[in-house]
Amino acid sequence: MAKLWAGRTDGSVDRAAEDFNASIRFDSRLYREDIRGSMAHTAMLGETGILSSAESDELIAGLEALLADLESGALTIDPECEDIHTFVEQTLTERIGDLGKKLHTARSRNDQVAQDLRLYLRSEIDLLTEKTTALIAAVTDKAEQYQSAILPGYTHLQRAQPIVFGHHLLAYAWMLLRDRSRLADCRKRLNLSPIGSCALAGTTYPIDRVFEAKQLGFDGICQNSLDGVSDRDFCLELAADLSILMTHLSRFAEEVILWSSWEFRFVTLSDSFTTGSSIMPQKKNSDMAELVRGKTGRVYGDLMSLLTMMKGIPLAYNKDMQEDKESIFDACDTVKACLDIFAGMIRGMTANEDAMLNAAKTGFLNATDLADYLTKKGMPFRSAYKISGQLVARCVAEGRTLETLTLEEYKPYSELFDEDLYDAIDLRVCVEKRCSEGGTSVSSVKKQIAEIRNEL
Ligand code: ARG
Repeated sequence: MAKLWAGRTDGSVDRAAEDFNASIRFDSRLYREDIRGSMAHTAMLGETGILSSAESDELIAGLEALLADLESGALTIDPECEDIHTFVEQTLTERIGDLGKKLHTARSRNDQVAQDLRLYLRSEIDLLTEKTTALIAAVTDKAEQYQSAILPGYTHLQRAQPIVFGHHLLAYAWMLLRDRSRLADCRKRLNLSPIGSCALAGTTYPIDRVFEAKQLGFDGICQNSLDGVSDRDFCLELAADLSILMTHLSRFAEEVILWSSWEFRFVTLSDSFTTGSSIMPQKKNSDMAELVRGKTGRVYGDLMSLLTMMKGIPLAYNKDMQEDKESIFDACDTVKACLDIFAGMIRGMTANEDAMLNAAKTGFLNATDLADYLTKKGMPFRSAYKISGQLVARCVAEGRTLETLTLEEYKPYSELFDEDLYDAIDLRVCVEKRCSEGGTSVSSVKKQIAEIRNEL
């Protein structure tokens, strides 16, 4: 394949070097952004008189036809080309003749690829935002369905205090809401056009960068040409945001896996989001959740690749940066798939409310409330804490629960104990009394649901 850049060299490259150098295998997915970018560029060249308006119109018509043919399948991308930019320019020139060779006036592939990538990732962010929103909605609906189902809340994976399942699920909804707002922040910083930076130093042509940027929906332009072609912080930021998002999904996935085990039996996943075993007939495995947890490592890997690729390269463009695409594309593809699968899995998940409640009945989840009971009657918390702990130790030794100790058995520990203690340590009461802002009471859960829906 003839090289765009044959001239200084004869363009004959070793076959293996040519393959090694080429990016068409993975950057062909930028074809829409590349062609639309070229259309905006050509319009700018016409507008500023760098090309005649007849030339600009003809180039735009040629690019439009090229895009239409690619979309319809009448034209396929030639895998022998070096990259998508080369393919578009060469195909255009084949089709409309020498005028096609004017397309690259006042532009370099360096600013072109940076712009293509920003445009592509901008739509990816929009898709990711949509999918995150759908997952938050699914989690919030589930939380509403189980807004009053009591289960143990854990710290150190030890039963700690009773909570409602709706509250637990909403913790993830809030995390995902922040993930969504991180994407929105990233979009703001990304949505500036580098085009007009040209190779590295700007151009001698009287270009209108703002005109061109506006056509592509950018909020403005990069103010330094070296920065415009050199940085990929928008990829780093997006990969970092996606890594954080995956951390949330991975923890959620881990809990779904635990909850659906026989040890917990808190939830049942729908058959359509589980798999069986090739040998053990009884198995119902939570493969979707496990894959989400597993793919988290992959997204972290993408972030690490990008950070490491960028850390030592001098300004301005270096070919190392061609490596940005596979990592950031993989991160976006992976997260989109995970978000979709997760939303489906959550929608089909049912809670086993009896199993949850039974688990909450053992493990002395109301021991804090017993201490609080004494405190509210005037005992200093530290002393009340000690008495409650001694009562728990006694129950453990005797195989009993705090509810089954008689008042006579309570009295020797403190004269403050009275009949009303049983009400104070009732699990439902323990939950309902945690009506501090953001607490686990049903009223707080309802309030959170309303706030989240309002955000959505
Ligand atoms: N395929 C290249 C990339 O993805 C396009 C930019 C090429 N620029 C250059 N100076 N060789 O980075």
